[in-house]
Amino acid sequence: MTQSNRPADIGQSILIVGASRGLGHAMAAEFVERGWRVLGTARAPGTPLHSLAARRPDVLEIETIELTDHAQMLALRDRLSDRRFDIVFVNGGIANRTPSDTLADVSTEEFVHVMVTNVLGVMRAIEAFGVLARPGGVIGAMSSGQGSIANNASGVNDVYRASKAALNQAMSSYASRRAAEARATVLMAPGWIRTEMGGPDAPFGVEDAVPQIVDVLIAQQERPGLRFLDRTGQTVAW
Ligand SMILES: NC(=O)c1ccc[n+]([C@@H]2O[C@H](COP(=O)([O-])OP(=O)(O)OC[C@H]3O[C@@H](n4cnc5c(N)ncnc54)[C@H](OP(=O)(O)O)[C@@H]3O)[C@@H](O)[C@H]2O)c1
Repeated sequence: MTQSNRPADIGQSILIVGASRGLGHAMAAEFVERGWRVLGTARAPGTPLHSLAARRPDVLEIETIELTDHAQMLALRDRLSDRRFDIVFVNGGIANRTPSDTLADVSTEEFVHVMVTNVLGVMRAIEAFGVLARPGGVIGAMSSGQGSIANNASGVNDVYRASKAALNQAMSSYASRRAAEARATVLMAPGWIRTEMGGPDAPFGVEDAVPQIVDVLIAQQERPGLRFLDRTGQTVAW
């Protein structure tokens, strides 16, 4: 989208990395519904985000980001350098195919793929796009309650848990380096939600969870500091 045909710079705005479907798409739709301008990223055309953009081109624009493509992120960051967002949120993430796989079971290739996506890719996106969050704004990433070391009593989902715990640690370092900056840094634990990743047995739908997630993110504005929060705004034990 060129500078001339993008939505006008009025009202509040959010950049959502990984908004093609699932929670990211539902967040984009909820922010649009609340009158925000949304820049959402997808990897491929023809997603639910593209259908939403076709209905609301006045407030929704789409860019392409693959979380494992660092050069692509830096190029988009440069193209957006004159823009500022109230919230920058990196939602994209994956799970390994077999949740019961321990680190002894999972292939090295699959372990690396999960880590490169959920940790390296997400943090490179945070590093690239976090500078586009306005002072007093919010920089966030979609973590998981399964990233909590303190709450891990079940001993399943080892690979996914390790990736989200590593993401939390890396976000903590990021926030510490920027402690003097007036931005909030938020890790969101959305709960178990019915999406392609969450599966059909999850107790909550996106229609339940996403308005709460959006409420919590909006409420973090003008509140600098690092927080690991669930979708009701409660602190999750690290
Ligand atoms: N659903 C749950 O119960 C639950 C619980 C806790 C945390 N989460 C977290 O919430 C986030 C969204 O999950 P979801 O449930 O909405 O899953 P989903 O329906 O599988 O959607 C995953 C999203 O991540 C994007 N993505 C995956 N790999 C990517 C990559 N390499 N580059 C760019 N985008 C990539 C996908 O894009 P494509 O369409 O291009 O694949 C899609 O937009 C994830 O970080 C997940 O770990 C989910």
